[in-house]
Amino acid sequence: MKIYLATRNAHKIAEITAALPDQVQFLSLDDIPCTDELPETGDTIPANSLQKAQYIWDNYRVACLSDDSGLEIEALGGKPGVHSAHYAGTRDFDKNMAAVLQEIPEGASRRAIFKTVMTLIIAGEVHQFEGTVAGEILPAKRGTQGFGYDPIFLPDGHEKTFAEMTTTEKNAISHRNRALQKLIAFLRTNTI
Ligand code: IMP
Repeated sequence: MKIYLATRNAHKIAEITAALPDQVQFLSLDDIPCTDELPETGDTIPANSLQKAQYIWDNYRVACLSDDSGLEIEALGGKPGVHSAHYAGTRDFDKNMAAVLQEIPEGASRRAIFKTVMTLIIAGEVHQFEGTVAGEILPAKRGTQGFGYDPIFLPDGHEKTFAEMTTTEKNAISHRNRALQKLIAFLRTNTI
């Protein structure tokens, strides 16, 4: 079957395509063709994820998959959440990390989770798959790998931050991969 990926991020397309069963053919928005800017105005990660896939279904009536991710920090009431990508007003990773580090009150909990929600719409039916990884926000950056908030996130049960891990080490426990594994299990049993 054919599923259109509701993202223009080449890295995500490659990661999802590589992980999925051969029987599923993944196509890009350009294949529809769709050049629209996808709406992302939801208040939560699941809402944002749904909004993108729903837009494709409503306008093009094709099976589609979207994803949305972010960091939820307990002491900040779940922020930066849906605003993770440009929390400090720009897409600058260092500025975003500096903003959250400065906002966490001294002595407050440093618990946080990374969350990914993938939304699959097939024949108008919505299926969501959530992956999370819990950990602590460190007071200072450690490591240079990865992207986003990786240098300040220490996953539970590990001594390396996400930015000190190799891609393989991070993928073994990442929120994105956990959501992806749930999606794969669903596709194997439901569409093939
Ligand atoms: P997206 O929805 O996957 O584009 O993620 C939105 C934002 O959340 C990114 O721009 C990052 O700031 C943050 N984020 C999501 N996943 C990760 C991750 O694995 N590591 C670090 N930051 C992440």
